[in-house]
Amino acid sequence: MTRLVRKAAITGHPVSHSRSPLIHGYWLEKHGLEGEYGRVDVLPENAEHFYGNFADSGLIGANVTVPFKEIAAKSCDWLDDAASAMGAANTLWLDEAGRLCGANTDGLGFLGNLDQLSPDWDETPGTAVVLGAGGAARAIVWALLSRKYTTVHIVNRTREKAEKISNEFGNGTVAHGWENLGTTLAQADVLVNTTSLGMTGKPPLEIDLKNLPATALVNDIVYSPLETDLLKQAAARGNPTVDGIGMLLHQAVPAFERWFGERPVVTDELRTLALKDLGVIT
Ligand code: ATR
Repeated sequence: MTRLVRKAAITGHPVSHSRSPLIHGYWLEKHGLEGEYGRVDVLPENAEHFYGNFADSGLIGANVTVPFKEIAAKSCDWLDDAASAMGAANTLWLDEAGRLCGANTDGLGFLGNLDQLSPDWDETPGTAVVLGAGGAARAIVWALLSRKYTTVHIVNRTREKAEKISNEFGNGTVAHGWENLGTTLAQADVLVNTTSLGMTGKPPLEIDLKNLPATALVNDIVYSPLETDLLKQAAARGNPTVDGIGMLLHQAVPAFERWFGERPVVTDELRTLALKDLGVIT
């Protein structure tokens, strides 16, 4: 009798750059499981059909990359709280009844990273400052609110984009233009950079941390370089810091568990493997 191998994949366009096959492949081997995790390039003109008829793909589940997270969410019969709040799904699976289910694990990835590297970071949730207003910012605002942060300041070059997120999440979120950065920093218990500034090849993140309380936790979701200027500057003045590679790794944990039935662990070995593969370290 032939056994059916459970197959999942990163889907989107492009998918060649994705590190998800490395991450899930590492865990499949560690757990001695027979599953497979590959790449499926979905052309933009086929996206609606692909996600709308996901059961025909032969996959039991998938990750979805930009720019199809919204189309994927719309194709789902059921969404978890995060995906439904964000209108975007990065993780899909078929349930026993063949219904397409969607989750957004980006926010959980952010939380898993901080929980692992800075335990108790959210013991007394207060005020957070989020720099940026793209897809990552939306996931992180959701995550901070889920941990009962009372105020989340969203600071962005284009204030309207911060307002859009704030309007979606409502109470507890406040939108700002960049000019309010100094005053919001003075209130921060947590500061997160979700912009691409400071990434190799991008402009630097110019920020003056003088108003930031010394106890505030600083996290940068940029992981190339791993120790960004923001993290260096924060560490030099004694702030606790957490780098960004863990968010990428932790967002994969709930997906792997869902598809393959075992909860994997983000190990130092996996961190090193991913950073080497990304060319961040040699
Ligand atoms: P993602 O979905 O991965 O979060 P994105 O939607 O491209 O990425 O968002 C990038 C973020 O970086 C945005 O908040 C963007 O600010 P704008 O909304 O004003 O575009 C921010 N960003 C990018 N380049 C920037 C720059 N040179 N100065 C200030 N902010 C910048």
